[in-house]
Amino acid sequence: MSENTALDRRRFLRAAGLAGAGLALPALAQERKPESVITEVQDWARNLGDGVQAHPYGMPSEYEKHVVRRDVEWLTAGRESSVNFTPLHELDGIITPNGLCFERHHSGIANIDPAKHRLMLNGLLDRQLVFTVDDIKRFPGRINKAYFLECAANSGMEWRGAQLNGCQFTHGMVHNVWYTGIPLKTLLDEAGIKTNGKWILAEGADAAGMTRSIPIEKALKDCMVAWAMNGEALRPEQGYPLRLVVPGWEGNMWVKWLRRIEVGDQPWHHREETSKYTDLLADGRARRFTWIMDAKSIVTNPSPQAPLKHKGPNVLTGIAWSGRGSVARVDVTTDGGKNWKGARLDGPVMPLSLARFYVDIDWNGQEMLIQSRVMDSSGYVQPTKDELRKVRGVNSIYHNNGIHTWLVRANGETENVEIS
Ligand code: MTE
Ligand code: CO
Repeated sequence: MSENTALDRRRFLRAAGLAGAGLALPALAQERKPESVITEVQDWARNLGDGVQAHPYGMPSEYEKHVVRRDVEWLTAGRESSVNFTPLHELDGIITPNGLCFERHHSGIANIDPAKHRLMLNGLLDRQLVFTVDDIKRFPGRINKAYFLECAANSGMEWRGAQLNGCQFTHGMVHNVWYTGIPLKTLLDEAGIKTNGKWILAEGADAAGMTRSIPIEKALKDCMVAWAMNGEALRPEQGYPLRLVVPGWEGNMWVKWLRRIEVGDQPWHHREETSKYTDLLADGRARRFTWIMDAKSIVTNPSPQAPLKHKGPNVLTGIAWSGRGSVARVDVTTDGGKNWKGARLDGPVMPLSLARFYVDIDWNGQEMLIQSRVMDSSGYVQPTKDELRKVRGVNSIYHNNGIHTWLVRANGETENVEIS
């Protein structure tokens, strides 16, 4: 603030009768005493900085070292079949940076030489085909799309009650990426699907050889074979050199290190769609083939890892998404559901992609019970956890899209709680 503006401001406040009335200045525009960080020349201005090429592949500032994927020790039986979480509370906008996309591997990260990788199409097809990665990239009709990927087990540890302290851990098995690739339909058309071809089986080239059955309608509708994320090659963690993209459907179906698509007349009933990724109900029956990720939202700031530090104006923000379409609206409460307020959606709101929402709040140090609730373009409204439990019981660790609660204490510290 220049001296003149500061003076003008003081004059204005006096004129408005505020300055002497004991009312605090708005916290955002405090007049501060001169500080040494302004009055003294700092090292970064005294010395030359690193030259170009000091960092041929750029990395974040050393002061952002804490912004990393994290795992939960008691969820980590072994590193190769494990999961880590996206630091949602450190991110803004809707795109997840490549190095921060959560990882979920069943047999570690396959380190694939693209020159030795092949994608095979077999089964109920007119022609059985094998493509190199270069072949895939030469197909006409390349597309770019932003989609969220959510693991079916995201928020799985919260089914029975509030457990993990941080949105990174409760909701961080989601990322949102711009994919470059070709529609899967392009490849299937090239091979020619026989009339009895009703399902595809996607298979990964990792040691898990992960497989999932997908109905042919979905395969032809919007699935992609992608080779790039956010403008650069897929990261090894995300399936380099080729990954299947299955928009809006559970992450497990997005086969990484994609090496084979088989066309069949019925589903294969493999491990990932029988003993795993099914929801065991209270009466012992299991819901199967629950592919679509229902609408969900979470306040990322404030949250346990990102407490409130200042009274006065604060920006409450979060993300929302739906596997059935786009985010239509997000409502937020700060008093445990007594009053709800429409949040402002900012940035492009695209189907099957994360949407960013904001509510500008004025916090006087009162305790808050914060929740967000999304409605999607199909009219579906995110349920409370109790509503979910009524129909699903508490056996499952999958498909928990219930409304989440943060308690903000008077000192700004924030905790994972549940209210019923
Ligand atoms: N594909 C293969 N080949 N192997 C795997 O272990 N994990 C699946 C899916 N695709 C997996 C896979 C699961 S359970 C999820 S949630 C997503 O990949 C995770 O994708 P990400 O690691 O890019 O976050
Ligand atoms: Co998963």
